[in-house]
Amino acid sequence: MVEKSNQKNINSSEILGRILFPDEEIQRKVKELGNKIALDYKDKELLIVCILRGAVMFLTDLIRHIDLPLSIDFMSISSYGFNIPDSGLVKITKDLDENIEGRHVLIVEDIIDTGLTLSYLIRNLKAREPESIEICTLIDRAVRRIADLKIKYCAFNIEEKYVVGYGLDYKQKYRNLKSIYELKADTIKKDIESLKSSLNK
Ligand code: IMP
Ligand code: MG
Repeated sequence: MVEKSNQKNINSSEILGRILFPDEEIQRKVKELGNKIALDYKDKELLIVCILRGAVMFLTDLIRHIDLPLSIDFMSISSYGFNIPDSGLVKITKDLDENIEGRHVLIVEDIIDTGLTLSYLIRNLKAREPESIEICTLIDRAVRRIADLKIKYCAFNIEEKYVVGYGLDYKQKYRNLKSIYELKADTIKKDIESLKSSLNK
């Protein structure tokens, strides 16, 4: 399905491919998830932990559909990176302000790829003795999974494609697109080539 975007100034045709999940479909799914979460956590003290920065849009839409007296908190993690891809070595750059002991924690994430970031995070949070801890992700890319994770709530599944929009970035841009787009294969190829040539210098 080829969708037209009304965000013409951001929608750079050299970088962005087709729309995978249009705005309206995202809103429908998010509402469905929110209603389900509200039922599951009825009468429980729910603390939603949003992983910065990619999950922010998803969080703000999602919690509007969870009709419960919940709390939110934020956490930021950065991977040690490029030199050790998929190593799962992550650093907490902003920790929670809330104490999670004895509380029902729901982690809200943008996309789960290898799962290494989240499995590290869950180990870290479990040590703080929450009553329960579950995952809600906007996108699951299970084909690249390395770490075994139990995902309780998921809006969309994708295959290999790199995606941007609705919070997800490419080089810190495109987070403010309302729909989710796939990145053009060319863009990634060019990146890999420029990385290779900088390594050979
Ligand atoms: P992993 O599950 O530890 O491999 O890493 C997942 C993280 O990588 C996500 O939280 C995103 O920040 C980032 N990421 C992975 N795939 C994509 C994508 O297709 N678009 C944007 N960010 C991505
Ligand atoms: Mg992320």
